[in-house]
Amino acid sequence: MTATVPADRISKAAAPDFTRDLDLTTGELRELLELAAMVKRNSSRYSQALAGRSIALLFEKPSLRTRLTFELAIRQLGGFSVGAEARIDAREPLRDVARNLERWVNAIVVRTFGQAVIEELALWSSVPVINALSDSFHPCQALADMMTLQEKLGDLRGRTLAFAGDGNNMAHSLMLSSARLGMNFALATPAGFGPDPAVVEQAGSLADASGARLSITTNLEEALAGADAVYTDVWASMGQEEEADARQKVFAPYQIDARAVSVAKPGALFMHCLPAKRGLEVTDAVIESSSSVVFDQAENRLHAQKALLLMML
Ligand code: CP
Ligand code: NVA
Repeated sequence: MTATVPADRISKAAAPDFTRDLDLTTGELRELLELAAMVKRNSSRYSQALAGRSIALLFEKPSLRTRLTFELAIRQLGGFSVGAEARIDAREPLRDVARNLERWVNAIVVRTFGQAVIEELALWSSVPVINALSDSFHPCQALADMMTLQEKLGDLRGRTLAFAGDGNNMAHSLMLSSARLGMNFALATPAGFGPDPAVVEQAGSLADASGARLSITTNLEEALAGADAVYTDVWASMGQEEEADARQKVFAPYQIDARAVSVAKPGALFMHCLPAKRGLEVTDAVIESSSSVVFDQAENRLHAQKALLLMML
């Protein structure tokens, strides 16, 4: 896990942060997934692991899963959380927010818009900062998704995860995590909605190292062909509400319906981070089908985040 210290703040202790997927090394990611499986099997063993620890939850965007699973994870590990929903930097600079929080809590969990907000908090805080979703990444969701994929498919090397829709935060985090674990990643997005080229380059290097394939196309069927799992996410993410109507027109050919799924491997898993817009990115029939593992993903948020907290604290 990485830690940085601002040049003009020499007294800051180096704390590990999870501001983006790549803050975990491949070894740490594998270790975390093993720990998460162990925690899931025997949760009570860890019931005092965070005794006396407190964690701040700062959420600038709505949340059901992330917020509640962090609260539950902290409570079930013996710690406690305090929360705030206001704009983090509305009243004072982020560097001051960070240096207040570090005096009270042992870690900071943040959901915000710009990735730079999370990185600035991490830079200035001596306690770990965890990304609970930014416009660029959703690394905690990717942890739960890799855990779910391992549960369903076993070793992920040589398997293929196809992602259809927006080249968004979810696409970025899944691309990086798949590449790390040797899983092929096939992305289909409409032209002009592809992922950040810098993230693609990082994922490409990781894929080269792990032997995974990374492919990006505008053709849905090409991406889904032979996939072991098909993943989609909303077409308009939080903060893009005003673009929703325009995006619906562009993204309509990328809907995951029974016909799209039929191109993937027989019995391919259907995945979604949720919340889903049924009838848009996925049909009701597909998300309710026996191949859908969306609620396993949601459950695993709890276990994966417990493992993350145990490793970071
Ligand atoms: N998947 C996910 O992060 O859900 P929430 O937005 O409800 O936290
Ligand atoms: N891409 C979505 C994910 C929600 C969990 C968003 O950012 O709104």
